[in-house]
Amino acid sequence: MRAFAVVAAVLVGHFASAPGVVAAGPMGTIGDVPSDGELNGSNFTYPFPLQKYKFESQRQEVEMVFMDVAPTVEPNGKVAVCLHGKNFCGPTWERTARELAGVGYRVILPDQVGFCKSSKPESYQYTLQQFCYNTRSLMRALGIENVTVIGHSLGGMTSIRFGLMFPEIVDRIAVMNPIGLEDWRAIGVPYMSVDDLYVSESQSNYSSIRGYEQPTYYVGEWKDSYDVWVNMLVNIYQGSEASRFAFNQALVTDMALSDPVVYEFGRLQPQTLMLIGDKDNTALGKQWSPPEVQAKLGHYDVLGKQAAAAMPNAEIIEFADLGHAPQIQEPDTVHQALLGWLAK
Ligand SMILES: *[C@@H]1O[C@H](CO)[C@@H](O)[C@H](O)[C@H]1NC(C)=O
Ligand SMILES: *[C@@H]1O[C@H](CO)[C@@H](O)[C@H](O)[C@H]1NC(C)=O
Ligand SMILES: *[C@@H]1O[C@H](CO)[C@@H](O)[C@H](O)[C@H]1NC(C)=O
Ligand SMILES: *[C@@H]1O[C@H](CO)[C@@H](O)[C@H](O)[C@H]1NC(C)=O
Repeated sequence: MRAFAVVAAVLVGHFASAPGVVAAGPMGTIGDVPSDGELNGSNFTYPFPLQKYKFESQRQEVEMVFMDVAPTVEPNGKVAVCLHGKNFCGPTWERTARELAGVGYRVILPDQVGFCKSSKPESYQYTLQQFCYNTRSLMRALGIENVTVIGHSLGGMTSIRFGLMFPEIVDRIAVMNPIGLEDWRAIGVPYMSVDDLYVSESQSNYSSIRGYEQPTYYVGEWKDSYDVWVNMLVNIYQGSEASRFAFNQALVTDMALSDPVVYEFGRLQPQTLMLIGDKDNTALGKQWSPPEVQAKLGHYDVLGKQAAAAMPNAEIIEFADLGHAPQIQEPDTVHQALLGWLAK
């Protein structure tokens, strides 16, 4: 195990005086970890060198792993941070990271606490604000002062919250089929207890994950190349931290249902791009809602435009034939749209 680089002493003063940070926690430390082999319940091999940010949060020590990808051309001075969705991990951004690094960005790809190769706490009060706060403190530990935030699905919902919390350090936001464009609970999704969510999370396997993703993410179609992301998850659901992971994921689902962003779109200041696959029909709790509620949920062809109109500085690019993961379904088209907007 390599030694941690201690950045605490140098940065703690800076941290305490930062705008947007209400109360400064103790600064953590950065260290290297192997990109392959088992780490915190995931055995997936990551595509770039892996590091971990170890810090105190909610009275315990937690670790967030991340990849830090250097520009492959003359640096443009900008940093992008890409926030994964609930059913994905940092490595799902490999193509996006290579595209961004290819036009000069440094790219940070974290796994959030509770996910993938990061810590799976016994118990943790998940909120979108906590995810944003953790991501913000990782940025600070890395000395990064201005970011382009890119997020998919739950990571898109988190990106919007990040822009609301820390507008002064956000250059731009680009989200791909973010969830949270509607308040599922207000539309009638019944409560599902964390214990019941845990039971359902614990039963996840290849068929249940693919059975969920095929109609929502990929418009009913399946390519062998999608298997890698299903197997990455199955590996964690069946790995050494299986029951903690299932419990963390149950808490995360409860969080997303209880922590809407949709009422605050009007306050979102940064320039924002919404990349929306219109055939997406994702809605948390749809599976356990009565048919008349189901019928009202997840209409991305309407929700995308509504959200962009509600945000003061947003643009939308829609893909009529794509689902919840447009950047995976048609990477060429979607990355061209993203890079085109970033270049403006
Ligand atoms: C991790 O993956 C490697 C290669 O697929 C395999 O040999 C090893 O047994 C796995 N370890 C665990 C803990 O799953
Ligand atoms: C995550 O993995 C690291 C490295 O093996 C280990 O030190 C740490 O204790 C693990 N974290 C948790 C919460 O188990
Ligand atoms: C970060 O970027 C935003 C948008 O370009 C800009 O308004 C802000 O001044 C920048 N902040 C810093 C600290 O560079
Ligand atoms: C996968 O899980 C579902 C329930 O979530 C179960 O009905 C099915 O039998 C499982 N399949 C396998 C191959 O274990």
